[in-house]
Amino acid sequence: MPSLVVVGTQWGDEGKGKIVDLIAQRADLVVRFQGGPNAGHSVNYAGKSLVFHQVPSGLLNPKARCLIGSGCVIDLGVLRQELDSLQQAGVSFEGRLFLDRKAHLILPYHRVLDRLREEGRGQRKIGTTVRGIGPCYEDKYSRIGIRVCDLLQEDVFADRLRRNLAFKNFLLMELHRADPLSSRQIRREFLAYAQDFGKMATDGSRLVADALNRGEKVLFEGAQGALLDIDHGTYPFVTSSAPTAGGACTGVGVGPSRTSNVLGVTKAYTTRVGKGPFPTEASGRLANQLRRWGREYGATTGRARRCGWFDAALVRYAVRLSGIRRIAVTKLDILDELTAVRMGVGYESAGGFLSDFDPTVPDLKPRYVQMPGWRKPTSVARRPDDLPREARAYLARIEKEVGAEVAIVSVGEDREATMVLSRSRWFQ
Ligand code: IMP
Repeated sequence: MPSLVVVGTQWGDEGKGKIVDLIAQRADLVVRFQGGPNAGHSVNYAGKSLVFHQVPSGLLNPKARCLIGSGCVIDLGVLRQELDSLQQAGVSFEGRLFLDRKAHLILPYHRVLDRLREEGRGQRKIGTTVRGIGPCYEDKYSRIGIRVCDLLQEDVFADRLRRNLAFKNFLLMELHRADPLSSRQIRREFLAYAQDFGKMATDGSRLVADALNRGEKVLFEGAQGALLDIDHGTYPFVTSSAPTAGGACTGVGVGPSRTSNVLGVTKAYTTRVGKGPFPTEASGRLANQLRRWGREYGATTGRARRCGWFDAALVRYAVRLSGIRRIAVTKLDILDELTAVRMGVGYESAGGFLSDFDPTVPDLKPRYVQMPGWRKPTSVARRPDDLPREARAYLARIEKEVGAEVAIVSVGEDREATMVLSRSRWFQ
């Protein structure tokens, strides 16, 4: 199977960065298909921790080409900073990074409006990353967005910017009582980006189709996670794109028959940033322990993540949404010290027991199973047999409950701290 789609199965932050970095060593082309600089993938590289927001993690494989697909929203200022820091770390991307011409651009007014709206929501905040993601996707669907291809035609860009800014400045001044933005300044900034990024613009759908037709290995790298999906997530506490596997088709321009091999990444417990429901959320000592041991602070915003037990019913839902056959379980080592571990397997709701997660049902109370902890370090394990019996039983229960094979287990940040259980060519 020449392609693999990697998606998050929880609320993002599952450790996709490490898994994608590992698999990308075998890829010829790595493609981001949705989201923008709201993502934050941390990867250990040459002793340094690098954080990718928009660049596909595959850029660390010097042989791989990388594409930011048409379903993404791109902040060129953030992208430039990211590329500068990669260059400083000795990573060359010359001729290897492409932007789909149809991808939409995040403009300064998107960021400002994201922040002002969040501030204005008071207690009803979504807890967005304030990177302008929602306002940019709104413009895309209102058909007033500005795309990479528009930036490359100076007069088209100037015309769209003028029209949009007239309306955005009206909103800023009249609704939010904020200062207007300067058209001249934005034009100057973006014309410089056109110089820098123009040569990276391409037809992403064509690039991917040609690679697949040549039999090359194409890795589709999802951002965020299934429960943040605009349609299937915990709406309205979601992002504005489709982080489920179907998003790879629409966000690149490739058919489902070519993206049917899907790997879900899942953390051995659950975290979420931002507001919204979280049935297995812990409080007090356990939440603090998981946050401290797992260093659960956002890679993009630095916010402390909410933490709780593994919710198998939630991941089973994500497995259904994306047709996931295999999963990678990350951060198993974070549970090493616990005397007992719990796992949500369904919910008590007003209407009776629910075996599946349903984002439209409020106040779900998880039903747990409890299992003995292992209280031995797993970070040194390199083969499944090296794991304590109780840890193996925990993984086996995850596999049974979520209905997907455990293909990879990660027990630390480094590439070596990984066990591969599947014989798929992608992981060997
Ligand atoms: P937005 O994507 O910035 O609009 O934020 C919407 C929701 O998605 C908020 O709850 C964010 O915290 C969450 N979110 C967005 N990107 C990520 C991510 O990469 N990891 C985890 N949560 C995210």
